[in-house]
Amino acid sequence: MTVAKPLPHESARLHVTGAARYTDDVPAPAGCLHLAFGVAEVARGRLDALDVSAVRAAPGVAFVLTAEDLDPMPDCSPSLHDEPLLCTGEIQYAGQPLYIVAADSHLNARRAARLHRAEVTEFDPILTVEEALAAEAWFDDGPRVWSDGDVAAGLVAAPCRLEGQFEIGGQEHFYLEGQAALALPGEGGEMHVVTSTQHPTEIQHKVADALGVPMHAVRSEVRRMGGGFGGKESQGNALAIASALVAARTGRPARMRYDRDDDFVITGKRHDFRIAYEVGHDDAGRVMAVRFRHWVRCGWSQDLSLPVADRAMLHADNAYDIPALEVTSWRLRTNTQSATAFRGFGGPQGMVGIERVMDHVAQAVGRDPLAVRRLNFYVDAAERPGGLSAPPDPPEDISTGKKGHTHYGQRVEDFCLGAMVGQLAERCDYAGRRARVAAWNADSFRLKRGIALTPVKFGISFTLTHLNQAGALVHVYADGSIHLNHGGTEMGQGLHSKVAQVAASRFGCDPARVRITATDTGKVPNTSATAASSGADLNGMAVARACDAIRDRMAAFLAEEHQADPASVVFAEDRVRVAGAEYGFEEAAAKVYMGRVSLSATGFYATPDISWDRQAGRGRPFYYFAYGASCSEVVVDRLTGENRILRTDILHDAGASLNPALDIGQIEGGFVQGAGWLTTEELVWDGKGRLRTHAPSTYKIPCASDVPEAFHVHLWDGANREETIYRSKAVGEPPFMHGISVFSALSDAVAAAGGAPLIDAPATAERVLMAIRAGR
Ligand code: MTE
Ligand code: MOS
Repeated sequence: MTVAKPLPHESARLHVTGAARYTDDVPAPAGCLHLAFGVAEVARGRLDALDVSAVRAAPGVAFVLTAEDLDPMPDCSPSLHDEPLLCTGEIQYAGQPLYIVAADSHLNARRAARLHRAEVTEFDPILTVEEALAAEAWFDDGPRVWSDGDVAAGLVAAPCRLEGQFEIGGQEHFYLEGQAALALPGEGGEMHVVTSTQHPTEIQHKVADALGVPMHAVRSEVRRMGGGFGGKESQGNALAIASALVAARTGRPARMRYDRDDDFVITGKRHDFRIAYEVGHDDAGRVMAVRFRHWVRCGWSQDLSLPVADRAMLHADNAYDIPALEVTSWRLRTNTQSATAFRGFGGPQGMVGIERVMDHVAQAVGRDPLAVRRLNFYVDAAERPGGLSAPPDPPEDISTGKKGHTHYGQRVEDFCLGAMVGQLAERCDYAGRRARVAAWNADSFRLKRGIALTPVKFGISFTLTHLNQAGALVHVYADGSIHLNHGGTEMGQGLHSKVAQVAASRFGCDPARVRITATDTGKVPNTSATAASSGADLNGMAVARACDAIRDRMAAFLAEEHQADPASVVFAEDRVRVAGAEYGFEEAAAKVYMGRVSLSATGFYATPDISWDRQAGRGRPFYYFAYGASCSEVVVDRLTGENRILRTDILHDAGASLNPALDIGQIEGGFVQGAGWLTTEELVWDGKGRLRTHAPSTYKIPCASDVPEAFHVHLWDGANREETIYRSKAVGEPPFMHGISVFSALSDAVAAAGGAPLIDAPATAERVLMAIRAGR
């Protein structure tokens, strides 16, 4: 069968030869206009006057559209109607688009967009957590609180108590291909938009709204993105809307792309968090109660901030069965870029909170942090009396004091981290290396090492339940070639490859027969964003159903011809066998076509068994959990704070992998991106709210040389207990959180250098050095 094979990415050859076509590679049609936004330079103020005469007069400029030219003002928001395309008088952040320039080239548009003169009455911007709280500037009518168990009583009853507070920085997506869109006007008010987006239906919907036409008049298409990472769920709306507006007004094609600096300054990033905790525990390090407070800087508009902050709350337990847990979350409105989805969607921030607690507790009780972590784990499903098939454990398991459900009431039925962590610790010789690290540190004055092993439990499904659906469209042509389309988008993660493998497996045919075409709202409608890691889960299943419908028709027709039972028809090895006869797949397709039987079908899938009450914070929001663990060893220079990862071992649960090569790629990439977030990637806004780190010169993403020299990634051997596509598990986001082991190992090394606890992220060389010095 084609699934489970480590086939290369379907576009691997195109990627490495430069032949893969991205949105901005589509050749410019005749008469194409190139657009750029002129943006605000202050973070908050009233726009009293905007003089664009110099912009209009600049070389190559065709025209300029200001807010006055747009009535009604189109909205770009994926949630509330709170994101006007252009500033309508009140400036909300430095970088907010004020007007659109249309010119004969990208460069001319961009140069002209610097030439405006804005008269602005500046107001004090709301930038910090304190400023937002003082101004009561928040979304969601104030803080959200979810809790389970009696936290107040638990904190009082616990023999020991700790508290702490720390900051976790945001993160720029740094997709290698920046945001881009191309709008092609058609006849009778039709619009065809080619975009770099994870959410073609959202683009279709927002463009239709902006043009005042029904969704059927707009077709949105994306072949691939050069990375999205969550940054293309909503942040491409403005470019697509602007391009479509100009195209509709002029009847000329229009395109727009952000240069790297503009992309940094205009678009939203990962939410930064401040987290405070109070924890009650015993002498062994068993945690009895935790109270978390999350302060989330959301930026100027709501965007996806509520579900992001929710997911942070939902991951505040990570892998730990804590008798009483409460999380309070403030979603603060600040005069900064509107923070948005980013791999893990708030989950990583929530998880760093409890991992910090585990390190703190371990330090307080003087035990190995891994021992404390394991003591607090949920109970492995396989360890339950009766094993995996046993009914769920009682609400309070008397023997372990564990309750077996999360703080939002979902039973943790598939837990396997006890066994996984055991296997990883053994494979990477955690205990032996911890001893060797201690011995090294005793001998070394300048270089100090640290090691940490951290777990990941990540919930799979969109928490907005209705998004958990997908569609597919499959055609088998009379020559036996297969055209496949589904609602998911390709951003490098290999979704199209996996889905093509599913189709080839259903037809028992050579995968070379299957061609996946660009995602297109005209082929599969009403799609969800390719997000929440569920691309393959949802679309893979929809594709399987469409293929099965066609295969069943083929089987029925051929069975009737041969007086056989349709169930006895076999599709395998690129052939179809029926009652002793055997056809090549193309021969079978041609016969069925000649028999006037449809060789085209749609498929649809909706995730079963999920429910979620967001108000109460109770339910079963996740179909299942994905698990993993990583162990990192680092070295720190105590005189400079410089540091590097020496070795990382990861064991990750991708269920029964659809494609082990792609899954290992996702795990490696996710880990490196997560480590970058917590170490070198630092966003700096100045006191006036201007983003000062807006290019690779000042914002440091990991490069190839930052990958650990010893890097061992293995897949956990286990099928999903839920009926997902071929029992696989989602793999896109969960490995990102393996980066936490690097942060934890750095804290360990700083402690070995006699430093004060390293608690704030990112742990840049400066922060590491400051922590070391603070300990003197
Ligand atoms: N991998 C690559 N190469 N590029 C990306 O943009 N995005 C990540 C992850 N892996 C991303 C990636 C994010 S944020 C998500 S939600 C998933 O891929 C989306 O794809 P999937 O649902 O098919 O896993
Ligand atoms: Mo991923 S953050 O869900 O696009």
